[in-house]
Parts: sequence; structure tokens; C-alpha cells
Amino acid sequence: MDPQGSRLRTTPGYSRREFVRKMGMAGLSLAAARAVAGKRARAAFAETPAEPLTAKLKLDPERQLGTIDPNLFGNFIEHLGRCIYGGVYDEGSQLADAEGFRQDVLEAARKLHVTQLRWPGGNFVSGYHWQDAVGPKDVRPARYDLAWFQRETNRFGTDEFIAYCHKLGAEPYICVNVGNGTLDEASRWVEYCNHPGGTYFSDLRKKYGHAEPYRVKYWGVGNEIYGEWQIGHKNAQDYATSAVEFAKVMKWMDPSIQLVACGSGDPDWDRPVLEALVRHVDYISAHHYTVTDELKDYYEILGGVAQMEATIRTSGMVAETVSQKARKSPPVRTAFDEWNILNNWRDGQKRDDPHKFEISYNLRDALWLATALNALERNCRTVRLANLAQLVNDIAVIYTTPTGLLLRTTYFPLELYANRSGPIALDVFVEAPRFETKNFGSPMYLDASATYDEEKRRLALAVVNRRKEGDVVGTVDLAGVRAKPGGRAFLITGSEPDAQNTFENPRAVSTQELTLSAAGSRWEYRFPRHSISWLEFEVEG
Ligand code: AHR
Repeated sequence: MDPQGSRLRTTPGYSRREFVRKMGMAGLSLAAARAVAGKRARAAFAETPAEPLTAKLKLDPERQLGTIDPNLFGNFIEHLGRCIYGGVYDEGSQLADAEGFRQDVLEAARKLHVTQLRWPGGNFVSGYHWQDAVGPKDVRPARYDLAWFQRETNRFGTDEFIAYCHKLGAEPYICVNVGNGTLDEASRWVEYCNHPGGTYFSDLRKKYGHAEPYRVKYWGVGNEIYGEWQIGHKNAQDYATSAVEFAKVMKWMDPSIQLVACGSGDPDWDRPVLEALVRHVDYISAHHYTVTDELKDYYEILGGVAQMEATIRTSGMVAETVSQKARKSPPVRTAFDEWNILNNWRDGQKRDDPHKFEISYNLRDALWLATALNALERNCRTVRLANLAQLVNDIAVIYTTPTGLLLRTTYFPLELYANRSGPIALDVFVEAPRFETKNFGSPMYLDASATYDEEKRRLALAVVNRRKEGDVVGTVDLAGVRAKPGGRAFLITGSEPDAQNTFENPRAVSTQELTLSAAGSRWEYRFPRHSISWLEFEVEG
């Protein structure tokens, strides 16, 4: 994301418009429809709904796609706007604990079951010098941050980040500065965090009150270095040459760490980068933002997840190919370490406005987010780590004021999937009517994913009905296995796609639990228009 203009590059080398057009060519898949009735959750819709359409969904606990890595439910906090200061960390606030962490934010974040947390950027990291932000807070230097044009006090640094991860129950994931940072800074950061003691930087950590090493496992080798908006932007060859040296010294310092190379999802970047780094890294990153201001139309925006899925596939194909050639097993995996939808993007209007990324999300955006989560689960063999960008205030699921917080619409699907997904992803067959888009072919109204917990024999089916004009009635076929009665259903919807949560109406879009009356091996369910349905039940046997 370019902090000065309206550009956002998911892929270097293409303009965003070209990229969207190219990816749209790929289109999606199948067709058709049929079925009957089920349960209706919301009555008060803005307009009279159109007649329901019909669809078919088939799933089978034996048709498994792979395991879902818990790291799929990671999040991201960056020194951007009020994400850290005034969000995660708010010294002096009545809502903060003695160390300065906002208790209300922490409580809301804990409910998201965040498995790993990425920090300190994003673009910010490419100008960040971690040594500025350790030790006594009052003597830490304040700096001007050239990524987001804001003053950085450095009062939240490595020790505060680790303390936050501990409170949250999340693994820390630190990205190092490959922009204007040095090899020494990177290896010393690993030393500060992970070395047991007896060396200058490990003893510095001890001196600052942290006797035990932090054992930070996940480390990123730079952020979006392919973009000219990045401090220290490089071409693929220059990044690869330099990243190999970063990776070497970081792993020499602690061979147990796992490294994420800076990828883009574009083979022209990822391939040369991985060919140089394949022996040194465990993951290659990719990012995706669907920018609603560019796509504008409701169906175009929701179809935009196809572009994210295409990026996942491209990243995975390059990683598999290069790993296979190098006989690296397990292969390098994809770390989808930034993904989100950008709505009402005020970037570029006022470069140093600290509120410029405080985006309000609506129901449509929650549908997008659930569809993106379906895509991540469907591609669980490729994507082994992912980070929603971001947690608090800036392009975030939680929004704070000095006196309280608001859960954005997008908070709710994330909470549902992160808490209720089973460990194995299933291959769901969907045959449903389609909508037309200019950029992404003709996706089906219904987008689904499913997970299975073998131990509990529990199946969970997630279905996003993107049709805004009316419901879709689906026949759910369980391929011979039988759903036990007594399942649970969760629904996220709202009066219209534009519905937003506000302090006056904080639950305009939220999760409600319904009774699931389905039982047996074949039944019907009515998926309300513009909604997310989560159906969970045990199977007999
Ligand atoms: O998440 C906001 C920004 O988007 C990140 O700093 C950057 O990596 C991306 O472009």
C-alpha cells in the first residue's frame, strides 16, 4: 500500500487495474440450481426480497483437503495511525492496565483466538530501528516515521510487544527491517529475543527485566520490498542477494527460527527470490487487499476474493516448483501475512492525518471477509500462516475511542471462523446460480468451506450467500453420513449490505445463534440473502 497515493500493488510489475483485469480472466467454476425450505432468521429487510433461488451442496468427511494450520488465524499490529498508540497501548488511559495495555481491546482481541501476531509493520518496519525502542521509556528517542508520516515515540517496543503476545496467548511474529536496516540489526534483534544470555544483547534483555529468552519463532525478512512506496525498495535480484545474507545471520544466531521471505504473488518476483532463498526460508509471503473505492459495485467487490485466491495459487505454484527443483522437503509454504478489504480509503488525502485509515466496515465487507476466510481454508495446504491486516483502529476489526470500543462488522466472521473451525478442511461441492462481474467472471452466489473434527466427529459448514436480492435454498447432501439432531447454527446478517455497527447501534451486524433442525444425510437449509451461515453438527457412526 502506497502511503502517498491511491495505489495499492498486490503484484509488482502490473498496475492494479491490469492485475485485476488479468486475474478476472481466470474466472471461477460451475453452475445450476434447485431445492426447498428451512429457517429464516431476519424479517425486517429494507426491500421486499426476490423469490429464493435453489442450490446444491455436497460434503463428505472423507474428502479432505488437508489440515488447517492454526497459524491461519493470525493478526497484525503496525505502528500505523492509532493501531498501537490509542489502540493496543494507551498509557494513562483509565481503560489501560498498569503497563499501558488497553484492557477492553485485549478482551475483544482474546475472543478472536489470535494464534500469532505480526509486528511492527508493514511499511513501518522498513524504517524501524528496534534498538530505539528498548530500555527505559523516557530516554527512548522519538523519531519521524517516513512510512506513514507520523511521530514515533518508541514507547512501545520489543518488550512491550512480547508482553502483549503473552497476554493475548499469541505467538510473536517479527518482521525485520530490510529497507534501511542492517544485517547486524537483524541478527542482534534475534540475539536480544532468543539468546539465553552471556552476550551483549541477550544480557541487555536481562538487564531490562527479562531473564528468559522470548523464543520468537517466526521472523519476516522484510516487507513489500518490491514496491516503490517502500523505504529501501529493491528489484527482485537485489532483494534476493541481500535477503540471503539476512537469512543466514538470523538463522546462524538461532537455527530454530522460521523465516518468511518477502514475496508478492507475482512469479516475476517470487521465482528469482525463492531460487536464491529456498534453502534459507520456510515461507514466502503474499498480500492482498480488495479496494472497494476502485471496484465500487457490490458484486464486483465480493467477486474480488477470486483475485486473492488467484494470488494464493500463484504463490503456492512457484513455491512448490522451486522447492521441488531444489529437493526441499517440506516445501516452502505461503505466508499470507496481510489480507483485508479496504473501504472508504482516505489514503493520500492528508498524508499525516492519524485517522486516515480508520475505516468503517459494513455488512458487505463482513461477507467479503468470510468469503476470504473460505478461500484460506480451501487453500490450507498452500497457506500455512496468515495475518488479517489489522487488529485495532486502522483497517481493523476493533475501533477505539478514549472511552470505549466498537466491534466492526468484520470482527464477527473472524471470531466465528477462528473459534469454530475444525482441524481438517473438506472439499465442498457447490452448484448454485451465479452473478456477473466485469473483472472476476461469474462467481456463484454461494461460497462455502467446511471443516471436520475427527475426534469429535463434528462437521462445520460455512456458507456465504452473496445474493443481495433474495435467499438461496440449498440441499445439503452429506454423502451417506448422517447429521445427528441437535446441531447449532450461527448467522451473521443485517438489514442491508450497507449496514454498519455504530456506537448508537453496535450490534447492527453481529452473530446470532439459531436452532439447526437439520438431521440425516440430506436436508435443506435456507441461506438468507446477504448473510453468513455457520452450520455445525455431529455425524453418526
Ligand atoms: O496494512 C497496511 C499496509 O499495507 C502495510 O503497512 C503494508 O505492508 C501494506 O501495503
